[in-house]
Amino acid sequence: MATAPRSGTSADGTGRPVAHNAVSAAPPAHVPVQSDNGSARCLAEKPTAPPPREEAAVVVVPVATRQESDLFATPASESLIPKTGSKAEKLKHIELLVKKCEQCSLCRGRTQAVFGVGNPDADLMFVGEAPGREEDLQGEPFVGRAGQLLNKIIEEERSLGMKRADVRITNVVRCRPPENRQPSPEEVTVCRPYLLAEIEVVKPKIICALGTTAVRGLTGSTDPLSRIRGTFFLWKGFLVIPTFHPAYLLRNPEEKRKAWEDVKKIREKLASLRSGGG
Ligand code: URA
Repeated sequence: MATAPRSGTSADGTGRPVAHNAVSAAPPAHVPVQSDNGSARCLAEKPTAPPPREEAAVVVVPVATRQESDLFATPASESLIPKTGSKAEKLKHIELLVKKCEQCSLCRGRTQAVFGVGNPDADLMFVGEAPGREEDLQGEPFVGRAGQLLNKIIEEERSLGMKRADVRITNVVRCRPPENRQPSPEEVTVCRPYLLAEIEVVKPKIICALGTTAVRGLTGSTDPLSRIRGTFFLWKGFLVIPTFHPAYLLRNPEEKRKAWEDVKKIREKLASLRSGGG
């Protein structure tokens, strides 16, 4: 397991200082693998390592049946989702809860909490780490320099060739950590129900986790990003593909080629899923 250092900068190169006591927030590692035919599957927990927490198991649900699955929502996230209304209305409701959330100390330093933006019915969702300075000021995720690169990834014709408004963009943590440090495990944990609720409402076909904090905060995987990036795996019935955080790519432009390869896989998988394939 890759445990974050107690000080210094984050291992995924987001440039954020690491929070004190930063360790994996969540459920245990799982092993994402690529099957021979390229379709995604997930080996659940290793048999010798029982999950240390109740929520820990990685539930493998075929994509085709995920709409029917009641395995996804934790009681905490389920209670955030109104029973009726359109996806947009449900997301608005969750956003209002996020905006007034005071469940951790990050609320004291924020200008505003930052909820997800984009298509409530998006096939593709990007999950980042936490708002930075610009996001905190503007109230929208990924609007700073990293956001500009993410926009390119989304919009350039040779990349995904989509519009920012077509996808969903969100974060594991909704309030800006002081000095842009990496969110602590506790902060990720208290914020996680909002993310789960947002995913449950949007039901994207693919979730692209941007950087280590996003992968860990979302799935609990403690596998090093270098091992799992560019690989699809199933998490609670959702296809997840980790890739580099755009802030990391800004600092390490030589890695952009690998990121483009990951993006190409997303593009191909989306096209295949949309045409009824796997
Ligand atoms: N980095 C993130 O992870 N999220 C944002 O919203 C902006 C920068």
